[in-house]
Amino acid sequence: MSGASLAGRRIVVSAGPTFEDIDPVRFIGNRSSGKMGFAVAEAAARRGAQVVLVAGPVSLHTPQGVERVDVRSARQMREAVIAALPADVYIGAAAVADYAPAVIAPGKIKKKEEQLTLALVRTPDILAEVAVHERRPAMVVGFAAETHDVEFYARGKLEKKRVDLIAANRVGVSGSGFESDDNALTVYWAGGARALGPAPKTELADQLLDLILTRWPA
Ligand code: C5P
Repeated sequence: MSGASLAGRRIVVSAGPTFEDIDPVRFIGNRSSGKMGFAVAEAAARRGAQVVLVAGPVSLHTPQGVERVDVRSARQMREAVIAALPADVYIGAAAVADYAPAVIAPGKIKKKEEQLTLALVRTPDILAEVAVHERRPAMVVGFAAETHDVEFYARGKLEKKRVDLIAANRVGVSGSGFESDDNALTVYWAGGARALGPAPKTELADQLLDLILTRWPA
């Protein structure tokens, strides 16, 4: 089943971190490298899918045959993902910031007081929005980066965000994680789970695409 064709399928992938600006020189970000999402986009394009890759700020080359849309903030990522619908599959591999500054200061914030409090507001949950969108893809796949109670949180996300699959990073596996070239995932769906890897992210991407095909609604 490995390498089954995705010709005729449109796949939207989000990847990388988001940066939420505080002022013209500072932002809130995270350590996502974007490698997993880029590997999925590359593998899907290689199998003939039409791929839109919505990328946060990363330093990675655009995979061959992939339409890349660069964004910075969660809000911009949401706009780009929604604009890319309809699609057959959405894979939310981005590490979207959960909170962003309530206001972006127009000028550089100067240090004055001993303490500074930043007001943060929730960002849009792109994955949850795609999953209930009128142009919902047949398969909506999310990621989960957890340090503990992985299955509990992953299954919670499946239900709460109404997605078809949640790929949880397996913790405690050497070499796995944000900046690594290797990773290990456990993919959960309602009533089942499968462990993928540990393997290079390029190989895992193909395994994940195979699993998505087997879980495709009849
Ligand atoms: O709830 P949590 O952030 O752990 O869920 C992770 C999944 O949700 C990932 O697939 C991520 O891309 C997606 N997500 C999102 N928008 C957010 C937060 C997370 O699409 N604001």
